[in-house]
Amino acid sequence: MKTMLRYSAAVGLLLVAFVAQADYLQTQNLFSATPPAEADTVVVLVPLSTDSSPAAPAVGSAETVAQFQRAVEAQAFTGALGEQFEVLAPAGMNAKRLIALGVGDGAALQRADAESVGAALALHLATRPSSTVAVNTGLLPQNDSHSALVAAVAHGADLANYRFDRYKSAPEPRPAQTYHWLVSDPQAAEARYAQLRALAEGVFTARELTNLPGSDGYPAAFADHVRQRLEPLGITITVLTPKQILQEGMEALYGVSRGSQHGSHLLIAQWRGSKDAPIALVGKGITFDSGGYNLKLDAESLLAMTGDKAGAAAVAGPLEARARQRAPVNVVGIMPLSQNAVSGTAQLPGDVVTSASGITIEIANTDAEGRLVLADGIWYAREKFKPRVIADIATLTGSKVRALGRDYAAVFSTDDALVDSVTQAGELTRERVWRLPLGPYEKIIESTVADIRNTGSPGAQAGAVFLQQFAGDTPWVHVDMAGNGRYDATSKPPLTGATGYGVRLLTEWVTLYANSTAE
Ligand code: BES
Ligand code: MN
Ligand code: ZN
Repeated sequence: MKTMLRYSAAVGLLLVAFVAQADYLQTQNLFSATPPAEADTVVVLVPLSTDSSPAAPAVGSAETVAQFQRAVEAQAFTGALGEQFEVLAPAGMNAKRLIALGVGDGAALQRADAESVGAALALHLATRPSSTVAVNTGLLPQNDSHSALVAAVAHGADLANYRFDRYKSAPEPRPAQTYHWLVSDPQAAEARYAQLRALAEGVFTARELTNLPGSDGYPAAFADHVRQRLEPLGITITVLTPKQILQEGMEALYGVSRGSQHGSHLLIAQWRGSKDAPIALVGKGITFDSGGYNLKLDAESLLAMTGDKAGAAAVAGPLEARARQRAPVNVVGIMPLSQNAVSGTAQLPGDVVTSASGITIEIANTDAEGRLVLADGIWYAREKFKPRVIADIATLTGSKVRALGRDYAAVFSTDDALVDSVTQAGELTRERVWRLPLGPYEKIIESTVADIRNTGSPGAQAGAVFLQQFAGDTPWVHVDMAGNGRYDATSKPPLTGATGYGVRLLTEWVTLYANSTAE
């Protein structure tokens, strides 16, 4: 009996470990003050020098240093951010390759710069056989942020090593290097890295969810995926079915899936790391947006709409990150999920729905569906959780893409301090936001038949002003991330698929907000 118990406990633990332990990464990161006995790749992080030749690193023998110096000259290498070269079979060491990576002005090096250095390194090594990588960081300034910056380089490499390969019959093996980061304070670097690794896992979850094709990432499947990833971390998961959504009066959310065999679901995830009133995150989860009867006519735009669940993914990610960090914050994530399809049962242009808040909505355009699911999502957050603040995030409008492109998301709020904190989080993580005005735009969503209509011009402002109606008196901020969710041909680093935009922004923002309002 005892053995049985012990056996099942062990199996249970194994199962939990299996589910909780992400396998997106095959790489390992170790932090130490001394180099490993053997490394097949040696990397030197080289800051920009004030005179023309960057300092020589203390690697290998005098022979190695001399060769390194000659290579620097041969390349006219300056140490600018992102610049790199490789010496094969370097003299005086056993390693197969010696890589110099420029980091720019060492004293001015920011977290996001450090991450881009890590991404460049990971992408370089992805195509080269290399199992043990020793990274010399001794040329970076040995100041207070040294450990954090090295951890950020490792984090940048992690983020660049994600692959969406679940549909490949013979996926390329994932990069599997062991990185040895040589730092003066290994404990500090390791502790910071652990925080960032938790964050990276949240980013991977968001990318995976966003990348899922519509037919595999439908509302119930999205909810299941999140449950499997988040529940083992101590996050409470609740999923409302279409029937329960109607019982709660959430017709706006319900209606968007009326044309689909995949009914709307409301996914609620809560990490209760403190007893404060929660911070609520609400994310648009349109698992596919055909436009409905206002069908999207451009093939490319339609194809991109598997990514219309990126807002919900950008809510699941921060929840996961904060839980993995065991953070002392109370965060609730509300993810309204629907598939905007066309069929004989789909809602029609001109239909009127009553949202759970009681506000009636004229559906002037079935393609403005994100705000419909968010209306009830925001109401649900406010009504059921009495949060101290609500932030919503959504791939909401084409208008936003035209105004700001893909490098910035749009942020809207009447609360200047909230805009400031989101902007600050955006600068730190380089998931940047730019403020657009909210008022005086109430008139643009006036309807002649219902309380409000779901369209208006300018488009991004119409979406924002629409959502504002559902936040009531709760401090509220809206992030329109249309266009930010996907890498394109011009992206740096040159990756493909979902970016996971919003996870780092909102994880940072939750931290900033919780700290700034702590009692
Ligand atoms: N999901 C789209 C917005 C979008 C566009 C996201 C491009 C990412 C890239 C949204 O549901 C939509 O269709 N918005 C329409 C609303 C319009 C019909 C009032 C838009 O902005 O064009
Ligand atoms: Mn749409
Ligand atoms: Zn949409």
